[in-house]
Amino acid sequence: MTRWTSNEGFLTGGTGAIGRHLVPKLVAEGHKVTALVRSAEKAAQVERQGAVPAEVSLFDADGLATAFEGHDAVINLATAIPSTSRYFLPGAWKSNFRIRTEGSAAVAKAARSAGVGRLLQESVVFVYPDSGDKWIDESAELDVVPSSEPNVAAEENARRFAEQGGVGVVLRFGYFYGPGGAIHTEEILKFARLRFAMQLGGRNAYQAAIHLEDAASAVVAALEIPSGTYNVCDDEPLTAREFTDAMIAAVGRRPLLRGPGRLLALGGNKTAALTRSQRVSNQRFKDAANWSPHYPSAREGWAATVAAG
Ligand SMILES: NC(=O)c1ccc[n+]([C@@H]2O[C@H](COP(=O)([O-])OP(=O)(O)OC[C@H]3O[C@@H](n4cnc5c(N)ncnc54)[C@H](OP(=O)(O)O)[C@@H]3O)[C@@H](O)[C@H]2O)c1
Repeated sequence: MTRWTSNEGFLTGGTGAIGRHLVPKLVAEGHKVTALVRSAEKAAQVERQGAVPAEVSLFDADGLATAFEGHDAVINLATAIPSTSRYFLPGAWKSNFRIRTEGSAAVAKAARSAGVGRLLQESVVFVYPDSGDKWIDESAELDVVPSSEPNVAAEENARRFAEQGGVGVVLRFGYFYGPGGAIHTEEILKFARLRFAMQLGGRNAYQAAIHLEDAASAVVAALEIPSGTYNVCDDEPLTAREFTDAMIAAVGRRPLLRGPGRLLALGGNKTAALTRSQRVSNQRFKDAANWSPHYPSAREGWAATVAAG
């Protein structure tokens, strides 16, 4: 197995919800981090966190290959998930689809040609089928709707990287929540303070989630594990009702309205992934990476998120 020796890592998505937690953790662990940026403002952001900014297009395999030279690992966390208000708008998912298909292909190709030993690729647990209260591990058959096809394409690019001699790690993250500017979290808390409790899916549907700080520490731990696909979520997936109750308890305002719940399924394949019951196990990753979430469930995670302000 290719160990990450000289600690030089190239990160995409380093300025986003998970990236903002990840860069300081990598730097604190003594890693040298180069982060892809798209503006001077974001370059200053990553520099403040101890990383070196690199302005290169995510879709330019040659440019990326030059930028990746001398790096041992590439961590591909770039995404463009529409905010709740834009979720159903035509074209709202176009950027994210391109990032997960063309972007991840260019990153994998560039990593190969630059001789990078390890590639970590972000994916999501939403590719798993609706499974009631049955525990789901990485051997489960996928139920891919059109909106998740780009995730599967990104996973394939990382697997191909492994087949060609590198270490290719796919991280299937649960639903992100946490402090630090994640738009979905900010929206949920804003609505909760207005006494509207946002609940995704039917009350008894299990929702695999992960606090953003834990998602970031998982990425650091994933720099030492063998090729493969791993679920990265908390220890105790809660039902949608329990997840929302934990958020409400943390905010401390009794809701007057709760939703959209099961109605979200009316969104068709755009929301199908969010309304499924997915009781996802993180055991494989915990064993491989010797990692545990600091927030074993959203009960602890929401309390910490609200406390962080
Ligand atoms: N598993 C999950 O539940 C999950 C997964 C992903 C995102 N989300 C949530 O979705 C919400 C919106 O997030 P988001 O997807 O916009 O992510 P985000 O958290 O804002 O981060 C996206 C990252 O990707 C970068 N990026 C976007 N488009 C790019 C491009 N064309 N080329 C290079 N880099 C690019 C962004 O760079 P810039 O800073 O330059 O924009 C940023 O660093 C957040 O609340 C997040 O938590 C959830």
